[in-house]
Amino acid sequence: MTAQLIDGKAIAAKTRLRVAAETAEFIAATGVVPQLATVLVGEDPASAVYVRNKHVACEKVGFRNQQHTLPATTSQAELLELVSRLNGDPAVHGILVQLPLPEQIDEQVILDSVHPLKDVDAFHPENVGLIVQGRPRFLPCTPAGVQVLLRESGVEVDGAHVVVIGRSEIVGKPMGMILVQKGETANATVTICHSRTRHLPSIVRTADIIVAAIGRPNFVTADMVKLGAVVIDVGINRVGDRLVGDVDFDDVREVASAITPVPGGVGPMTIAMLMQNTLTAARLQTGGAAK
Ligand SMILES: NC(=O)c1ccc[n+]([C@@H]2O[C@H](COP(=O)([O-])OP(=O)(O)OC[C@H]3O[C@@H](n4cnc5c(N)ncnc54)[C@H](OP(=O)(O)O)[C@@H]3O)[C@@H](O)[C@H]2O)c1
Repeated sequence: MTAQLIDGKAIAAKTRLRVAAETAEFIAATGVVPQLATVLVGEDPASAVYVRNKHVACEKVGFRNQQHTLPATTSQAELLELVSRLNGDPAVHGILVQLPLPEQIDEQVILDSVHPLKDVDAFHPENVGLIVQGRPRFLPCTPAGVQVLLRESGVEVDGAHVVVIGRSEIVGKPMGMILVQKGETANATVTICHSRTRHLPSIVRTADIIVAAIGRPNFVTADMVKLGAVVIDVGINRVGDRLVGDVDFDDVREVASAITPVPGGVGPMTIAMLMQNTLTAARLQTGGAAK
């Protein structure tokens, strides 16, 4: 068996086109142009690339955007002051603080300070609580993107056993929470594994769908994958001058029924879902219900 490739680039492009069309309708109906503000502290080159890509995506779907670049020496109070200013600016609908932040700044304090209606990353406790209760306002971009990939690829999630490897607040935990909910492309039986999980390979072997979000190249090997399982690789690891995922792609694709490549799988979806969330934020702040 050679797995079907799940084409994240194509599905992300389709998602962005839909968001662009809905944005044009929204602007025509309200006169309001959705705007995303990004905040980058310091000079981490990878973060700078991520932020640039987000601005390019904003322009493509018809959003305004503004970028705030602060020096690595910025204090927590100074950053809180900027977030507070953006919270109070009615022309800004979404605020994205690029992580990681320099060590003198407590990330949680900053993420908690973003207004919940502008929290397009869905990190604020109020938004996390709404996800847990099954009535999300925003879904975190990467796990939401995985759910769209599964839906668009026709993967049967209802009743499936999903094993998520990784329990971060950004990917693993919300991934499990999204797929266990009642609803479309959900209703899964979810197991979340992490570095303290006993007998991890044998648990992963029982999965109908594997979501790997570990940050270690080649962690998921073919002997851990049930014949016909669907494998979603969230990992992005730099090995020499190549980007690779967490899955031993060449061997696993001979066992799986469908698999995402790295790059070109989950990565493009993350930014597409950020666009979706920014439009949702603009709708919520102009009194329209989120679609
Ligand atoms: N495609 C995208 O857009 C996108 C977005 C976000 C992240 N990523 C990538 O996804 C990967 C994960 O990101 P993250 O932010 O979730 O990373 P993270 O915060 O470092 O979390 C990694 C998780 O993997 C678990 N883990 C580490 N070693 C393990 C082992 N030997 N066995 C089992 N579990 C192990 C950790 O367990 P403990 O909790 O026990 O330590 C932790 O829960 C990274 O490669 C990142 O670059 C991609």
